[in-house]
Amino acid sequence: MRISKVVSNIQESPTLAITARVNQLKAQGKDIIGFGAGEPDFDTPDDIKEAAVKAIKDGKTKYTPVGGIVELKQAVCDVVNTEYGMQTAPANVIVSCGAKHSLYNLFLTLFEAGDEVILPAPYWVSYPPMLEIAGATPVIIDTRTTGLKLTADQVKEAITPRTRGIIINSPSNPTGMVFDKKELIKIAEICIEHDMLIVSDDIYNKIIFSGSEFFSLASIGPEVAERTFIIKGASKTFYMTGWRIGYCIGNKDVIAAMSRLQSQSTSNPTSFAQYGALQSLTGDQSIVGVRAKIFEERRNLMVSKIREVPGFSIIPPEGAFYCFPSVAGQIDRFGSATKLASFLLDKAQVAVVPGIDFGADDYVRFSFATSEANIIKGLDRIKEALTQG
Ligand SMILES: Cc1ncc(COP(=O)(O)O)c(C=O)c1O
Repeated sequence: MRISKVVSNIQESPTLAITARVNQLKAQGKDIIGFGAGEPDFDTPDDIKEAAVKAIKDGKTKYTPVGGIVELKQAVCDVVNTEYGMQTAPANVIVSCGAKHSLYNLFLTLFEAGDEVILPAPYWVSYPPMLEIAGATPVIIDTRTTGLKLTADQVKEAITPRTRGIIINSPSNPTGMVFDKKELIKIAEICIEHDMLIVSDDIYNKIIFSGSEFFSLASIGPEVAERTFIIKGASKTFYMTGWRIGYCIGNKDVIAAMSRLQSQSTSNPTSFAQYGALQSLTGDQSIVGVRAKIFEERRNLMVSKIREVPGFSIIPPEGAFYCFPSVAGQIDRFGSATKLASFLLDKAQVAVVPGIDFGADDYVRFSFATSEANIIKGLDRIKEALTQG
C-alpha cells in the first residue's frame, strides 16, 4: 500500500523503540537492565490518582472544551505567573495530550516550508521529525565543542533571512545541561533583534540539582515573553507519563489557532486526566523536591560509575534524569555508538540509547530513572564487558 511522503519519512521514536525491545527481552526471561526509559520510575502520587477517580465517579467523563478545562488552564497560569513573573490568563494556555502533542500543535501552527528553526544539538529526538512534518528545516548547532551548552555567538552565526525561531530545552534531554542565565539573556536579545520566536521546552524544570539554577527566557520581561512559547507537562514533574497531559503557554492568537488544529485531531485531552493534572498543580508540591533529591543522588552515583568505564567521559548533568557520556574512546573499537549500544545489549544485557538520534553519534544516553541497585549492577556489567572485550 502506498504510504504518504510525509509519513514515509518518519521513523519510530528510537527511545520508545528501545523500551519496547527491553520489554520484549524481559518477557523472554532475560535479565536486562534498562537505562533507556525516558520516564520517571516513581508512581503518580495518590492525591492525583484520587482526584482523577473522583472525577470519573462525579461523571466528568464527557468531552471538555477542546483546549482543556478552564480550572486547569488557570492553575497553569498561576504557576507561570508566580514562577516566571509573567501575566498570563487562560486564553494564553492550551492543554494537549502530552507535551509532545503541545509541541506538535505548536510547530504546525508556527512553522511552514521555507522556515528555518535553530536547534541546539544534542537535542530531544522528536524535535527534528516534528519540524520536518511542519515543512520547516531544523538548523542544527552542535554544542559538543562548547561543553554541551548553547552560546549566543553560535546562535548569531546560524541566523539567515529564513530563521523563524529557536528551540531551547533546559534542562536538556539528553544532556541534562541547564543553560546559563547570562547566555540566555544574550540569546533573547538576538531573538528580539531578528524577530525570532522562542520555543522554551521547560518540561524538566523541576528536576534541578544543587549548584544549578533554572532560568526561563520568558521571565526576562514582556518583550521576550510575547515571542516565547513555554512547554510544560505533567509527565516528568508529577510522574504521569501515561496520563498524557501537556501545556503550551504563549500568545493568545497562536494558542487559539493551536486549539483549532487540536479540535480537528484529538479534541480535548482525556477529561479525568485533566482533573488529575489539576490536582498535581494545586495540591501539595513537596514530593517534587523530595524526588528531585533522589534523582540527584542517583546522578552522583551514575556519574561516578560511568567514570570507571574505559573510553567513557561525562560532563555531569545539572538536571533532568539522563547522563549523556561521550563514548569517543570506544568508537575506534566498535565503529559507532550504535554498534557499541548493540554490543552492550547482547553482551552485558544493558540497554542504553545510542546518541545518533540525539544528533551526537559518539555519545550514548543513560536514564537514571531507575534504582541505585540497577545503576550499580548495570554499570558494573558494562565495565566488565568493555574491559574483557
Ligand atoms: C524534552 C522533552 N520535551 C517533551 C517531552 C514530551 O513529554 P510528554 O509528551 O510525555 O508530556 C519529552 C519526553 O520525553 C521530552 O524529553
